[in-house]
Amino acid sequence: MTKINDGIVTSYRQLVSDLHTHNHYYHVLDDPRISDVEYDGLMRKLILVEKQYPQLVKKDSPSQRIGGAPLPQFSQVQHAVPMLSLDNAFSAKALRDFDRRVHERLKGSENITYLCEPKLDGVAVSLIYEDGILARAATRGDGATGEDITSNVKTIKSLPLKLISDLPPRLIEVRGEIYMTRQGFEQLNVSMKKSGEKPFVNPRNAAAGSLRQLDSRVTAQRPLSFCAYSVEQYSDSGSPDTQWEMLRYVGRLGLRINPDIFFAANIDACESYCHDLFTRRASLSYDIDGVVIKVNDLEKQKFLGFLSRSPRWAIARKFPAEEASSQLLAVDFQVGRTGAVTPVARLSPVFVGGVTISRASLHNADEIARLGLHLGDTVVVRRAGDVIPQVVRVVHGRRQENSTVVLFPKFCPVCQSPILHLPSEVIARCSGSLRCAAQVKQVIKHFASRSAMNISGLGDRLVDQLVDTGCITSIVDLYDLSLSMLTPLERLAGKSARNLLNAIEKSKKTTLQKFLYALGIREVGINCARLLSQQFASIEEIMAAREDELLAIDGIGPVLAEHIQMFFANPKTCKVIQDLQKKGVHWPLTAADGVREIPLYGQVWVFTGRIESINREEAKSVLQALGARVSDSVSSKTSRLVAGKAAGSKLKKAKALDIPVFDEKQFLQFLEDIQTTDI
Ligand code: IVH
Repeated sequence: MTKINDGIVTSYRQLVSDLHTHNHYYHVLDDPRISDVEYDGLMRKLILVEKQYPQLVKKDSPSQRIGGAPLPQFSQVQHAVPMLSLDNAFSAKALRDFDRRVHERLKGSENITYLCEPKLDGVAVSLIYEDGILARAATRGDGATGEDITSNVKTIKSLPLKLISDLPPRLIEVRGEIYMTRQGFEQLNVSMKKSGEKPFVNPRNAAAGSLRQLDSRVTAQRPLSFCAYSVEQYSDSGSPDTQWEMLRYVGRLGLRINPDIFFAANIDACESYCHDLFTRRASLSYDIDGVVIKVNDLEKQKFLGFLSRSPRWAIARKFPAEEASSQLLAVDFQVGRTGAVTPVARLSPVFVGGVTISRASLHNADEIARLGLHLGDTVVVRRAGDVIPQVVRVVHGRRQENSTVVLFPKFCPVCQSPILHLPSEVIARCSGSLRCAAQVKQVIKHFASRSAMNISGLGDRLVDQLVDTGCITSIVDLYDLSLSMLTPLERLAGKSARNLLNAIEKSKKTTLQKFLYALGIREVGINCARLLSQQFASIEEIMAAREDELLAIDGIGPVLAEHIQMFFANPKTCKVIQDLQKKGVHWPLTAADGVREIPLYGQVWVFTGRIESINREEAKSVLQALGARVSDSVSSKTSRLVAGKAAGSKLKKAKALDIPVFDEKQFLQFLEDIQTTDI
């Protein structure tokens, strides 16, 4: 061992203290003060000094977070104060009952306030700090006896090895939850899969599994976090009076407390906070399974005391579980408008995430392969927030013998055409196109829908019936329907048949935007249809648009441009458009037709040079709003060029082509005039 002098001890202590401080800024306060490189530099320096002077190393050295050699097993520890659990409230009524019980027991005290804490879904731990140094960390175990996981817990960076205090309490036991953020969990699973290890099923299991490692060097690699929620033993006098103050005190000592904690003046405020947090649940960075509601006053907590396994002063307002198990009854292969074949699981109904689920999309062939589904399997279904329900995994232990594996079909279940699965696409598609009744039905349903041609009375069931009975085979046929064809159909009594024919007639007068959307071009939603209808003067121009012209439109990228061009390149499509127009489908453009005049409709404007008084993007969107298209290049189609300072080749070209030009001043004047004109 090398001999130490005072200077080395002082600079070593400074190094330790700096590392603790920066660790706190980074992991607890989310407010780093130095770069990662600088932090790593300090850490390397510390390790070097410690290697040379091992006698300096104490329990709280930041180097202890790296993790030590594997332990043969965890030793057991007795909890001085048992680690209890909480009573649950699954409804607003159960929460009010809790409040009523609290008021009854505390008869006379009027002002009962509560603290609401998100109930993190992780692993409960007890931390003992002696003279400010983390001395022991233990799991809950059976509540009386837990396991000593000190060396693993020391690797968690959001947990201080040394409390921030010049006069720390001689002893303090803090309890809290060790958990994994969703992002940390996802990243961990990616690397587990990469290295051929089995991924964890959810963040809680990942946190528990990581803490159970006998080799703390493995734990050190896991993205664990800690949040404190209570203090059980506190050696000093003058402790805070309320749960809220207590947590804030713990926060000042350097422990992380949940930023979403809420002080509630009464139980109604608790319930509305629970409701608010429930709606925000999916957007939180961590999993919660409810809210813990605690009587805020610590004296009152003491007075209320405990039942056998849970305190009377707290309750967990539980949220509906996001995962539940169900049975896979069948898999339907649905064929969509563009032929996409989507497998959908039929499940025995199960209550999950607050709703009853009996179907869940299985997305695509890869997902079926990933899950390795067999009919009759017990599966775990997940629905988080408003997110669509998902089948997460199969419970293999409960698979029935001789069950049949679910395979993606090779032929369309509706028209028996081959299903094509291009290597570049995740989605498999039926090759039947408009020979496939399923695709035809979806095309018609989309065409008739409210944002498209808005044919009221033409519901999904009726479309199925019209196609199944051979009344119609395409959207064009809709305009040939007659009373004599409709009345024999089930559920179409005289009046509704007439109403339907009226609605079909009415739909003939539409807008270019709606018509484009109704055509069902892949990826062309109502907004994209608006852009196209604003930028081009007619459907013919859109059909003939070059790729560069499409790409010049803000909001249209290469994929969309390709879909649009592919769609119109098909001669059958063009025929359908012509036929629809022949049947009378049209879109008025003039004021006489009752449509507001669009002043720059069909015009193409180009900017060049430096425009100083108005941001170019802003100018562009004003012109677009007035109906013009803004292009990057000058051509014979250009309606007008706006030339700012130092305009070059575009201005030359415009002059050569005899295209009208505005300078900046003229342009601004034009905008002013046109925007004040009542149109
Ligand atoms: S207080 C005696 N507060 O929920 C009461 N628990 O069922 C002790 N939990 O195992 C618990 N967040 O791990 C409390 N803010 C919070 C909590 C919380 C999560 C867990 C805790 C315990 C379980 C109780």
